[in-house]
Amino acid sequence: MSHHLDALRAKECRIGFVPTMGALHAGHVSLVEKGLSENEVVVVSIFVNPTQFDNPEDLEKYPRSVATDIELLQTVDPERIVVYTPSETDVYGDDVVSEPFNFGGLEHEMEGAFRAGHFDGVGTIVKRLFEIVEPRRAYFGEKDFQQLQIVKKMVALHKLPVEVIGCPIHREEDGLAMSSRNARLTEAHRAAAPFIYETIKTAKLKFGTERAELVTEWVNLQFKNHTLLKLEYFVIADTTTLKPVEKKSLENTYRAFIAVYAGDIRLIDNIALN
Ligand code: PAJ
Repeated sequence: MSHHLDALRAKECRIGFVPTMGALHAGHVSLVEKGLSENEVVVVSIFVNPTQFDNPEDLEKYPRSVATDIELLQTVDPERIVVYTPSETDVYGDDVVSEPFNFGGLEHEMEGAFRAGHFDGVGTIVKRLFEIVEPRRAYFGEKDFQQLQIVKKMVALHKLPVEVIGCPIHREEDGLAMSSRNARLTEAHRAAAPFIYETIKTAKLKFGTERAELVTEWVNLQFKNHTLLKLEYFVIADTTTLKPVEKKSLENTYRAFIAVYAGDIRLIDNIALN
């Protein structure tokens, strides 16, 4: 992999990078296309990273479909996409453990609070993949907005020579944010799931005129009696610090973040508020 990419770099090819865990969908493809528009070559890694899962069953059941993923990428651009599917040993050696990171507090909010060790796992794998691929630019979806901010922070802290680029959330026609986990939803849960985006869209409207606390209460109420969807958290947070908003200020920007269980499938989404 390194040799192949060194040879491309020697021919003045700029390398863009899209790290993924596979089960690719149009959301991933939108990142790849953005990468292709800004670089000669795009590396797509497919690796289900064990150290970022806090739930062994989620890791075991995570959808894996490398052959179909490669077919999909071939329809996007067979010439300029390099697919990298490392083994655990390739990236971790013999020790499949994560390194502890300090992301200045970003790691303790939301996903970090509900998924122990998750961002140490993400930091470890993304740093390692950056070392292997040495990309000029790397593309991350706003679907995982906290992850995007954390990767930006890691690059700044470790002074890594890569530009991190955030890309908008790709949605199904009914508004559900695309996710590899959507494939595991039952028919009933799939039909119920667009309620998540509907609710945060309304929360956005309400945030224009109401206090964050009231908006949060309203969202909690929407899920209280829902038979299929269980709210894990809804948080309105500052876009930069990811800390929950206390007093709205016109100088700051905010986002609403949500995590919901549809049966045993955990779905996340978020929306810019101003
Ligand atoms: P994965 O969930 O496969 O996502 C890979 C990339 O695709 C992430 O940057 C994610 O934010 C983006 N993405 C997923 N769904 C999207 C959507 N609907 N719209 C736009 N972008 C979307 O995120 C990971 O893998 C892993 O944590 C990884 C970074 C690969 C480290 O293991």
